[in-house]
Amino acid sequence: MKIQFLGHAGFLIDDLLIDPFISGNPLAKVKPEDIKCKVICVTHNHPDHLGDAFEIAKRNNATIVGIHEIAVLAQEKGLKAEGMNIGGKLKINKWQIKMEIAFHSSASGMPCSFILKKDNKVLYHAGDTGYFSDMERFKEYNIDIAFIPIGDRYTMGIEDALKCIKAINCKIAVPMHYATFPFIEQNPSKFKERCTCRCEVFEIGEVKNL
Ligand code: NI
Ligand code: MN
Repeated sequence: MKIQFLGHAGFLIDDLLIDPFISGNPLAKVKPEDIKCKVICVTHNHPDHLGDAFEIAKRNNATIVGIHEIAVLAQEKGLKAEGMNIGGKLKINKWQIKMEIAFHSSASGMPCSFILKKDNKVLYHAGDTGYFSDMERFKEYNIDIAFIPIGDRYTMGIEDALKCIKAINCKIAVPMHYATFPFIEQNPSKFKERCTCRCEVFEIGEVKNL
């Protein structure tokens, strides 16, 4: 699966974009207008996650997938959107998307995480969240690749992120949501060296086939 890290919590995974925070991110390497996608998942309504989602959706005629309240915001702007809620799933293009929990806040509806399935691969994008014991339950998804915040202050820091990857038992962990701002400065190598599974650290803009 072709995965590009766009910075912060943003990834382009084949034709699916998630949490694109680009024009407001001084570290971003890719321009929003260069992104081609069909589906845009948004974990919650904070500017560093909703980011450029609506503009990119408009340019690509892509569908926004998010919690009901975010889907309504998108529809009010004339965009295509599929609303859903915690525990539900939907199929769009070749993706099966399930909405899961995240413990955080949001300006619209609840914050969430996503379990994304395509081509027999299972991905977990944790969104912004603290550690919670229910992550243990996510083992059932047989997660191949997990995108996990490590920045601390607004989300899990490294200690809790390590607990998370043990709990979910993923095959590959990808740290995210760090170093964008001074108050979430973290060294991903410190996470990687203590990781109990394979860890892939992306440079911003880097593409990997995982
Ligand atoms: Ni947030
Ligand atoms: Mn955030």
